[in-house]
Amino acid sequence: MGHYLTKILHPLDITEFLSLYEINQPFVIHHGPDELSELRNLPMLESLDSLLKSWPAVISAHLPDVRDEISSVETTSKDALKLFKNGMGLLFNNANLHSPKLQSWVDALRKELGLSRLTHARSIIYATPDGKGTAPHFDQNINLVLQIHGTKKWTLAPNRSVINPTVRHTIGQPIDPELMGYLEDEMPTEMPDETVSFELKPGSLLFVPRGVWHQTEAEGDALALNFTFSPPTWTDLFLSALRSRLHTDPHWRETANGVSDFERRFEAEKKLELLLNGLIQDAPYWQAGDVIDAIEEE
Ligand SMILES: [Fe+2]
Repeated sequence: MGHYLTKILHPLDITEFLSLYEINQPFVIHHGPDELSELRNLPMLESLDSLLKSWPAVISAHLPDVRDEISSVETTSKDALKLFKNGMGLLFNNANLHSPKLQSWVDALRKELGLSRLTHARSIIYATPDGKGTAPHFDQNINLVLQIHGTKKWTLAPNRSVINPTVRHTIGQPIDPELMGYLEDEMPTEMPDETVSFELKPGSLLFVPRGVWHQTEAEGDALALNFTFSPPTWTDLFLSALRSRLHTDPHWRETANGVSDFERRFEAEKKLELLLNGLIQDAPYWQAGDVIDAIEEE
């Protein structure tokens, strides 16, 4: 196991971690006061005040109605504290762009997790006021949450409605059409029963697997640092490699003309038919190793 994963997952080893990761099993590790100090002692994380003072970008404030990321406004450091004091959670996105230390953690964790270069990997800081948190939802991404200050109660439950979601969903909100296309079962109207709860204190590290239902509530003002990974699916990976390969051919690079014009539709189909026939001839020679290399080779 790589250096960074070892530190963040101690005392779990990689085999133990992967056995949980592969079945989307959340877990928590409570680190001692001296562990992960290089993250926990980052100057920007010293307090909400110091974070607001040093933060150079916009901040998302979550409106209290839905208690969810989908209902947020953009604000500045100047106004954020007022909103926070009025019970709104604050989200500081892409913190890695403002901290070389966090960037090196994000890059290293992504690689050590074995995730593709196509992964959208980032670090997010959440400030949550006392008694507030997020409504039940799941994300399409993988999260490692490190509690920095305060206490936050997390409740999680397995997702029986959708396997391997590619879009997030919040209970009570409209369902994304993409999710509708592959629902296993109806979406619940409240947090499902089979929950597991964890209390995160400073130094606690929670693994939130892709697609698992979760809701949170802060006890006292809380600050948490997330490492968030949105990795490509096999479809994403393959399509990306396929695009590179097809685009070496000027015919595949042609504009897809005429497809929405009834008069020219026949010509368009003939053209695509020709291209598809070429693809079918080529497909038997594709090797998984070449597809992965096309994406992952440095
Ligand atoms: Fe979430």
